[in-house]
Amino acid sequence: MSRIGIILGSTRPNRNGEQVAHWVLEVASRRRDAYFELLDLRDYPLPHLDEPLPPSFGQYQNEHTRQWAAKIASFDGFVIVTPEYNHGTSGVLKNAIDYLYAEWNNKAVGFVSYGSAGGARAVEHLRLVAGELNLPALNTMLDQVVAWSAALAPLRDTAVHAAKCAASYSSRCFCAGSYGRARRPVLIARLRQNSDGPMVGAHDFDIRAEDFRH
Ligand SMILES: Cc1cc2nc3c(=O)[nH]c(=O)nc-3n(C[C@H](O)[C@H](O)[C@H](O)COP(=O)(O)O)c2cc1C
Repeated sequence: MSRIGIILGSTRPNRNGEQVAHWVLEVASRRRDAYFELLDLRDYPLPHLDEPLPPSFGQYQNEHTRQWAAKIASFDGFVIVTPEYNHGTSGVLKNAIDYLYAEWNNKAVGFVSYGSAGGARAVEHLRLVAGELNLPALNTMLDQVVAWSAALAPLRDTAVHAAKCAASYSSRCFCAGSYGRARRPVLIARLRQNSDGPMVGAHDFDIRAEDFRH
């Protein structure tokens, strides 16, 4: 059964988000086709991003990051409950998202927003963020979140997928510089260990099919 995390994206005292998130949990829990759990960011007090390496490397050094990563990794999909702060989402939620990378990849996400004007701009902001994380953003909420969470599971189950995601992301980060060229053999070695060929995005880094002929 798919596991869906309902992320409460507001932590301030007197937050309205708590009522909204509990309502979402209550409605979602009437379904029998997935397990739903409320994830309150107050329970994961992350400092402003303090990891020395980009999250796409997956080499987390801090215990608070590892705990957050383990929690997010345990879910197949998410419903993000977001306030609108200054036409975007909350800083605390953006920070919590930025901490991780692979743990978000190829899972499904839906949004519930609220605010003085309904929070639509916060959701538009989060859609852009989700796009960069390979986290498909859905419109028709729970039906689609549950269905896509299950559908994407086989893709996530392969080590190949994780290696390819990392390579693709690294390629885009570093393709412009000499550091990028220096890392090319490392990425190819990593892909060779785990995969049967390059993925979309690898071309940015000039990784070719020939690199995979043994
Ligand atoms: C810092 C801040 C900025 C806000 N900016 C907006 C805004 O741009 N648009 C809007 O519709 N509401 C805005 N609001 C109103 C909030 O969306 C509303 O107060 C909501 O309840 C905040 O969520 P919370 O109570 O869970 O923190 C803002 C509130 C705060 C605290």
